[in-house]
Amino acid sequence: MAEALISVLLEQLASIVFEHTKRAVTLVLNAKEDVHSFRSNLEAIQDVLEDAEKKQVTEARVRGWLQKLKDVSYEMDDVLDEWNTEILKQQVEQGKKKVCFPTPANCFCFGQVNKAIHHHNIATRIKKLNEKLTVIAAEKEKYDFHLSTIRGTDEQLTQRQKTSSLVDISTIFGREEEKEYLLSNLLRESDQDGRRFPVIPIVGMGGMGKTTLTQLVFNNEKVTAHFDKKVWVCVSDPFDEIKIAKAIFESLLDKNENQSSSNELETLLLCIRTRVEKKKFLLVLDDVWTEDKTKWENLKLQVIMQSCAQDSTILVTTRKEGVAKMMRATSSMIHLDKLSDRDCLALFNSFAFLDREEDEANGFGAIGEEIVKKCKGLPLAAKTLGSLVWYKKTREEWRDVLNSKIWELEEVEEQVFRPLLLSYYDLAPAVKRCLLYCAIFPKDYELEKDNLIELWMSQDYLNSKGKKEKRRICQNYFESLAMRSFFQDFKKDVLGNIRWCKMHDIVHDFVQFLTKKECTIIEAVKGANQRVELPGDYKVRHLTLINVREDQLPTSFDNCKNMRTLTLLDSSITTISPGSIMQMKCLRTLNFSGNWGSRSMLNEVPKEIGKLIHLRYMNLSHSGKLKELPDAVCDLYNLQTLDVSWCGRLEKLPKAMGKLINLKHLYVTGCYGLRYLPKGIGSLKSLQVLDRFYVCEGDDDEALKLGDLGIMDQLQGSLSIAFLGNKDDASEIEKAQLGNKEHLSELRVIFQKGDEEQRKGDSEIVKALQPHQNLEFLAIGTLAHWHHRVSLLDQVSIQFEKCYSRWVEIL
Ligand SMILES: *[C@@H]1O[C@H](CO)[C@@H](O)[C@H](O)[C@H]1NC(C)=O
Ligand SMILES: *[C@@H]1O[C@H](CO)[C@@H](O)[C@H](O)[C@H]1NC(C)=O
Ligand SMILES: *[C@@H]1O[C@H](CO)[C@@H](O)[C@H](O)[C@H]1NC(C)=O
Repeated sequence: MAEALISVLLEQLASIVFEHTKRAVTLVLNAKEDVHSFRSNLEAIQDVLEDAEKKQVTEARVRGWLQKLKDVSYEMDDVLDEWNTEILKQQVEQGKKKVCFPTPANCFCFGQVNKAIHHHNIATRIKKLNEKLTVIAAEKEKYDFHLSTIRGTDEQLTQRQKTSSLVDISTIFGREEEKEYLLSNLLRESDQDGRRFPVIPIVGMGGMGKTTLTQLVFNNEKVTAHFDKKVWVCVSDPFDEIKIAKAIFESLLDKNENQSSSNELETLLLCIRTRVEKKKFLLVLDDVWTEDKTKWENLKLQVIMQSCAQDSTILVTTRKEGVAKMMRATSSMIHLDKLSDRDCLALFNSFAFLDREEDEANGFGAIGEEIVKKCKGLPLAAKTLGSLVWYKKTREEWRDVLNSKIWELEEVEEQVFRPLLLSYYDLAPAVKRCLLYCAIFPKDYELEKDNLIELWMSQDYLNSKGKKEKRRICQNYFESLAMRSFFQDFKKDVLGNIRWCKMHDIVHDFVQFLTKKECTIIEAVKGANQRVELPGDYKVRHLTLINVREDQLPTSFDNCKNMRTLTLLDSSITTISPGSIMQMKCLRTLNFSGNWGSRSMLNEVPKEIGKLIHLRYMNLSHSGKLKELPDAVCDLYNLQTLDVSWCGRLEKLPKAMGKLINLKHLYVTGCYGLRYLPKGIGSLKSLQVLDRFYVCEGDDDEALKLGDLGIMDQLQGSLSIAFLGNKDDASEIEKAQLGNKEHLSELRVIFQKGDEEQRKGDSEIVKALQPHQNLEFLAIGTLAHWHHRVSLLDQVSIQFEKCYSRWVEIL
């Protein structure tokens, strides 16, 4: 963790000093020496970090030392960021006379910065931090660290993998017998009346492949045909009856049913029962931990199952045999034992020799066999190590894996952590940080790839000077983690791109093990009256609060004042007090959003938000009660992502949005109350994603006009334009110059249902669209008559014959 932090910090420092001398800018003059010294201290430390990171797993002293180092580095990062922000602010305030965009790192070219007091403050802090770091640097001598071996840069490391077709290997090795047994049990038609309570527990230690096996059976065609209703629920720890019942009920709903579910257990159980009565029902409870009989009995599954058709079954996966005992189902229990070395090898090979069969005979096979012995029959270990050595080109490198010291670690209890550690150490520093960040999500959480990428970007995990675009680099990181089996269960969208994934439970345990206090997840106790208690030290950097009611929110966040991420999941909070906001000064990432299932109750964002100068990501989507954003939002000069999509009541956006010079992504889909977007957006040179354009009626000077899109050639991704019916639209759309937007991949055009006159206008608009030939997807949406739509589509197909590869029509 420290490694990545420091490599990014060093780049920041380098760019400061560089700009400093080159431009001879009199910035914080007396800080110059300290910055220099800080940097060289840090460089000396960097040389031993690789070794330190490994030693800390077993040596508490080293862990302590690294902790101090991290604290200082984080603080320095904050100070530098403050400094940068100050410069950004000057830049905005002085208007755009001297334009020098846009990465914070090269903003030092901007003219005199004259807030002397503020700079004095920054200089003093840098001085103090440097003193601290000097002590830390001296201490490193005590630990007898080895110097790091030279390693490739992130670029090189990520470039090695070229296969973009990710494999989510669904074949299962060495579980044929268990699979057959399960299938025959599930598909059996019993004809005797003797009603049993049909629970089949699948027991085995973590990483044994319980879930994989269960999934395979659950998705089996015959099983699907055999049962009338199938439900899969992830239980995990703690066992929350209401939550489980809710999950069961919600997955029994039809897709377009939006019945809101109760929070009363009895009501829920009744609802479930009516839905499955007389039906053949298959229920999977994945990852059960509790051995508490009362909790289990509260769920009344026995009663429910008795009302179902015969042969309905519950499958339970668990790491503990006690769970099967508690359920009185030991007789039907399936024990997943270690894989045989042969099966383990087959699994390992399917990852290690993917697309490189010729190697197997070349001496690699023999080393592979040795490595597999270290897997101790654990499928997850075989899979992880197989993915790891896939990156290794020489036998020498394979042997390094085999002979790694990590196999001797005694302090790492979970057997399966050792292969994971090996794989983890092999990651480039920035990729490590990206992986660890995933500890902010609860277990079994479905990660949305694009969302994840924006989060990484909001934490500045990338080296600031990557030549390739940051987003692309992050995509590579994601792929790199997926290829190494840290992610799994991929889901793709219609175009075949990976959109969602999950982490294996054990991988989640593992990242939590590595991040310890830094990432903290707290779930409020349902119905409890006391407030959520925050951990009592300042080490928390990322905090996730789950299920918190307004009156359970802590009154003070002073304990977490170094926090960089705050996420509220499934919580019902209407606002957050100005006082609390002022205690979160380091915040980079703020997620107050709701989702389709549980909308956010947020109805006010206090103006103090403008004081969170480090903020880069703010997600307020699905806040159906939010009417406005304070103007102070426009003081967030570092803000890169603002998501207010599906805030249906939002009436307008702040006028001064042109000040958000770092804004890259603005999401406003579903803001039906919004009449127009503020004019200033047109001048945002960094803006890449604007998902929805509201074409406003009349001549409002404050409104962004279609013609303003003309200069926004940097737009990428998907854009949709909603016309409200304006006679000048066709000429405006020409000015929008869609033909120059070569990075735009999807375009949607939405028309109102209009009269005869207007429909003519629609055709004119479609004619005038003329998008770039790179466009991959085009959709025309209209509520008008069918034959009108047909004529529009005809127009479209003539015009875009050579450019788009697919199109659809939406109503
Ligand atoms: C949800 O149901 C209500 C009626 O219960 C309906 O008015 C509303 O349109 C539905 N919403 C969606 C998104 O289907
Ligand atoms: C904001 O949160 C919503 C709901 O969870 C999510 O779907 C969306 O991707 C997030 N937006 C961004 C920009 O990450
Ligand atoms: C933000 O919160 C929403 C709603 O609780 C959730 O769906 C989403 O995944 C969260 N995003 C992140 C990045 O935590």
